[in-house]
Amino acid sequence: MKIGKREPALARSSMTEPLTTQPPTAGPPTAEPIAFPQDRTCPYHPPTAYDPLREARPLSRISLFDGRGVWVVTGHTTARELLTDPRLSSDRTLPSFPAPTERFAKVRDRRVALLGLDDPEHHIQRRMLVPSFTLKRVATLRPRIQETVDQLLERMAAQGPPADLVDAFALPVPSMVICALLGVPYADHDFFEEQSRRLLRGPAAADIKNARDQLDAYFVSLIDRKQRESGDGLLDELIQDQLRAGTVDRAELISLATILLVAGHETTANMISLGTFTLLRHPEQLAELRAEPTLMPAAVEEMLRFLSIADGLLRVATEDIEVAGKTIRADEGVIFSTSVINRDGHAFPEPDALDWHRSARHHVAFGFGIHQCLGQNLARAEMEIALLSLFDRFPGLRLAAPVDDIPFKPGDTIQGMLELPLTW
Ligand code: HEM
Repeated sequence: MKIGKREPALARSSMTEPLTTQPPTAGPPTAEPIAFPQDRTCPYHPPTAYDPLREARPLSRISLFDGRGVWVVTGHTTARELLTDPRLSSDRTLPSFPAPTERFAKVRDRRVALLGLDDPEHHIQRRMLVPSFTLKRVATLRPRIQETVDQLLERMAAQGPPADLVDAFALPVPSMVICALLGVPYADHDFFEEQSRRLLRGPAAADIKNARDQLDAYFVSLIDRKQRESGDGLLDELIQDQLRAGTVDRAELISLATILLVAGHETTANMISLGTFTLLRHPEQLAELRAEPTLMPAAVEEMLRFLSIADGLLRVATEDIEVAGKTIRADEGVIFSTSVINRDGHAFPEPDALDWHRSARHHVAFGFGIHQCLGQNLARAEMEIALLSLFDRFPGLRLAAPVDDIPFKPGDTIQGMLELPLTW
């Protein structure tokens, strides 16, 4: 497996992995803070470089690209305690807010809707959106998601084998669904998928700023159009109910639309591609799932825990906080490594095993506290439908390239597959 365009040697250790799960080894404790983030050695395990952090739970020091030392939270109980602590801020414009990469450091000059706000401002925005993402609302979207999934699978069948699952299925499913939900024309998907990619992974800060500008301009003209001729998406509702009433201004609405569009497709796409890869590498668990499809909701929960694709939630302390016998000082950065937290043996016995029969629902793959993922019900529905239908439609599904040649994403971004060549 290759990580982006980086040294393939980094990924070599995963080659020796048996088809069942292989727990990362516990390394010796180190005196030097570990550099964060690191690339995974196997796409579905936390980086082996984090092994000492597992030993030192629940809280350690790490160093960022600029040499700055920050806290990393690695214990499950401590993580849930701190993620609900109002003395930790999500405001990335604060001077001491931690930047995990040079790119991030250069583009944190602007306030980001929801994710970058603290209460009470955060609560005002969140309250507007919650009704569109409830379990009940998502249940009404299921037939539409199923229809989208079926169409894409038929197209994949007609055009292959082989197929790149990312391109043919994992990305279009959530992209089509979030477009329909927001009222954004899917015809524009090439444009905004490219901008999202540059926003999340752009090689340079200029790239990210340009992507942000292009998305701004896109939403300015879409909102103009919708103000003249309203449709039936969430964006139309927000224009009618909130923009007109002055509860949000245009800049806030654009920021909200961007975060919903980007978060709505990138994350779930990665879960579908990496989830498929993980299932193909765990044939016993896959066979069990095929024999008993009602296990799928539990399997999705377990895969969310196991894969922890959003690894590195960022906060800064606004006051001193005593926790786990240590003091986090005001202005110190705090990073939550979800991949390590979700492998805490106190919360998840035998944490390195992929087991559909455990209760995994208390994982922090969607975060915890006020910023816990707004789209989690939607993401779960998409993953369940997509994975069940994919393995049902192609019973002989398998990798179409040697495992060592399949590229996955580097550690400084949301984890997932860059490509997933499959045949059937
Ligand atoms: C499996 C897929 C997904 C994963 C793993 C995921 C993960 C996360 C995580 C970890 C957070 C919390 C970040 C933090 O505390 O700093 C978050 C927040 C958020 N997610 Fe997701 N997400 C997924 C899918 C979605 C989808 C489909 C949407 C659709 C709109 C979405 C929208 C959001 C939004 C708007 C927030 C910010 C919430 C707030 O600040 O109140 N996510 N997500």
